[in-house]
Parts: sequence; structure tokens; C-alpha cells
Amino acid sequence: MSQIDQILNHVDANLENSLTRLFDLLRIKSISTDPEFKGDCRKAAEWLANELTSIGVPSQVRDTTGHPMVVGHRTGEGKAGPHVLFYGHYDVQPVDPIELWHSDPFDPRIVTREDGGKMIVARGANDDKGQLMTFVEAMRAYIEVTGDMPLNITVFLEGEEESGSPSLEPFLDANKQELSKDLALVCDTGMWNRTTPAITVMLRGMVSEEIVVTGPDKDLHSGFFGGAARNPIHVLAKMIDSLRDDMGRITLDGFYDDVPELPQDVKDMWAELDFSQEEFLGGVGLKMPAGEQDRSALEQVWARPTCELNGIWGGYTGAGFKTVIPSKAHAKISFRLVGDQDPEKIRASFRKKMLALCPPDCSVEFHEHGGDRAQRVDFTAPALEKGCKALEAEWGKETVLMGGGGSIPVVGNFKRDLNMDTLLIGFGLDEDQIHSPNEKYELTSFHKGIRSWVRVIAELSKG
Ligand code: BES
Ligand code: ZN
Repeated sequence: MSQIDQILNHVDANLENSLTRLFDLLRIKSISTDPEFKGDCRKAAEWLANELTSIGVPSQVRDTTGHPMVVGHRTGEGKAGPHVLFYGHYDVQPVDPIELWHSDPFDPRIVTREDGGKMIVARGANDDKGQLMTFVEAMRAYIEVTGDMPLNITVFLEGEEESGSPSLEPFLDANKQELSKDLALVCDTGMWNRTTPAITVMLRGMVSEEIVVTGPDKDLHSGFFGGAARNPIHVLAKMIDSLRDDMGRITLDGFYDDVPELPQDVKDMWAELDFSQEEFLGGVGLKMPAGEQDRSALEQVWARPTCELNGIWGGYTGAGFKTVIPSKAHAKISFRLVGDQDPEKIRASFRKKMLALCPPDCSVEFHEHGGDRAQRVDFTAPALEKGCKALEAEWGKETVLMGGGGSIPVVGNFKRDLNMDTLLIGFGLDEDQIHSPNEKYELTSFHKGIRSWVRVIAELSKG
């Protein structure tokens, strides 16, 4: 039997143990955004450092001013192929609204669907604990069967991805030498569908802002003042409404300046995909694409910029009713970016437009959140070709080169700060409800994900 088949058989024979280990990690409540779970975040980091060390990738928990990083290396002489750095994140999103979960988010379980499919249900089952463990388990199998890894390898795990990665840049800066390798591997994206593998070749960037409009200097009785006093919620609603026109285009000055048309070859590739707009939107109870009217839904989520309102509040929102004209109205707004759009240019254009629309007796404040450019993978990169080949061998289908609507800011940091390209291979599905109640990961994603990484590692090690 070939060596690769021996390793793959080992993966199959040990799947139960792999699941037990994943479940141990899923039980740790590593919610990075909530200070109450600071200790749990450290616990997850320690669990992973122990796990990696025990499989033969000596690793340490490394402190930052926020949640710790985990860094491990396994290197040796005379290996062909790139020195790879694997990145994943061990933190998870908060669980609320908790009442919508069918079981405890931190008590992982296998649920069998009516169609017989099995899924792992827990917070982090996909994003990103299930995904990162596919790689860890692949390394384990490799080392247990062959006694070594065929590539030099560095593992780098962070615990603040879901809360804006405040410690990431300082950490990369301080450890540039140690972390700059030939190629980064990231397992935090999806497949095309349950049976078709994918490599994500485009990620959108993002810029986010909180805006606060102040009208009267205190909350007012809407009977005494209503009519004469300007209501900041109305002002904010009008400002926000002006951000998009009836065709779904964003109206900020210069917004589309750095948005390229899709190259024809990518357009052709995507046109061939068996994508149903009705199914995609039907799956979330909707019918019609709401973005730019002259673009397909797939183009809207993969290759076009957006403006989304992520939250809006002000006035009285509690039980019952209160006739109030509030002093302040708030909104959180984010723009997904593509191509060469510059987050700071978009931020400035947004602020300018909002200020221009603010009546003279009101004021506007802005609070800056993150900003990152979009990312694109070089289609001719040799690692991309090797990745496609390895995935095809596992899944028996051609690998789809996908766009990804989400953002993974670390990919930009790797390129900018460490001059390192990234290969984005993941096994999640759109329906996995990441960040939402009842997050899940297909058992096949986990099992064949491990097998896929074994094959990718083997392929890359051919040099
Ligand atoms: N894993 C996701 C991003 C993702 C999901 C990319 C699916 C491609 C396909 C990641 O953990 C995430 O949620 N990122 C945030 C980043 C933001 C907070 C800067 C996002 O996209 O909203
Ligand atoms: Zn996430």
C-alpha cells in the first residue's frame, strides 16, 4: 500500500478519537469579545499548545496584551517543498440569542438529519475550531504513520479573530522572522457545496463605522416638542437612506473608482457553476437579490462592494411605549470592499456625505472600527494548482475557485507585513450558520477535511 493510503486509512480508523478531541476543544467557552470568558480563551490556547506538542509539533502559549497566541514549529533538514505556516483561530462568537439553540452550544453533539447526513453541532463546530482541527488531525496522522512531517511546518493560532484581532499586528511585527515562511495555509473558508471542494481566491475587504447623530441636548416629550424639534432618528434614517439608490448602487463619491470588472475568465468560470439564486435566497426565506440590480446574486456576494447597516438604535425600544424625541440616534454601518478600494478613502467619503446631510442644529460623531482591503490570490501560483489537484483526488470532483463574501483580515497582514501568500482551503458550507444559533459542521467536512489536508501536505511536499 502506498504511504499516502496508509495515512488516509489511519485517519479513517481514528475518526472517533479525532472527534473526541474536537469535542474537548468545543467544550471550552472561548468567546473572545466577552471579558467574562478571558480564562476560557487561555484554556483553549493551552489545550491547543498541549495537543500540538503531544503530536510532535512543539508549541507554546504566547502572551499578548489581549488573548494569547499559540505558536509551534516542526522543522528538519532536507525537506523539499515550502515551509508552510498554518493559521487558524480558536476563539468563537458569542452564543446569543441562546433561546434559539436546540441544545447547549458548548455541549457538542452529533445530530443525524432526516436525509441520514450527520453533523457536529456546537459554537465553533465550523468557525473555526472544527476547521482548524482538520489540519491538526492531518498532521497527527502524518506523524503517527510516517514518524515525521514531509514539510517544515509552523502553526500559528490566534484567539481574537472574532473581535477584530487587536493583538495581531503587534505580534506579527515583533515575531516577523519567526513567522515569515514561504506560504500560509488558512482553513477558515468554505466548499462550493457538500460534495464539491473549493479554494477561495478572492475575499472582500471591509470598513466599518459607528455614527451618532445628536439633535436636542436632552430627551424630549414628543407632545410638547413634536413638530418643532428635529428628531435625530429621522435625520439618521434620511442620511442612511441616501447611501444607496433605487438600483442598489452605493452613492458615495468615488466609491466605484477602484472597483474592477471581473476578468472574463473568472466570469466564465462562475457562469458555469450550478448556482440557483432561488435556492440561495430561498434558504433564508427571501426571494429577490437586493443589491445592484444589473448583477447576479453570486456576483453581488463574491465580487461587488456593499453597504450594510449592521445595527440601528435610539429612543425608546423597551416594552410598552414612550412618547419621546430622543437626543441621540446611533447606527453601525459596514462596507464590504473589492478590488483596490481603499478603506480609508471610503471612510472619508462616507463621513463627508453624512456631514453634508446633517442639519445645522444637529451634530454627527463617528467612531472608527476596522478597515481592510480586499484580497486576491494569484491564479498562476503553483501552490494553487497543487491544492486543486489534492482536493480533486479526495473529492473526485474538480475544485471550484470561489469568491468569498466574508473577510479574513490576517490574509492582508501576511501579504503586507510578512510578504507571504495564502492558500485558502476550507470545508464549511453556507448553511453552517456560523456566528448564528445551531452552528454546525458536516461530519463529512471534518472527516474528508482531514483527509484533504493529508493530500495537500503530500502534494506540496513534492517541491
Ligand atoms: N471565517 C469567517 C470569514 C469567511 C466566512 C470568509 C466564509 C469566507 C467565507 C471569519 O471568521 C469572519 O467571520 N470574519 C469576519 C471578519 C470581520 C469581523 C473583520 C467577517 O467576515 O465578518
Ligand atoms: Zn468568524
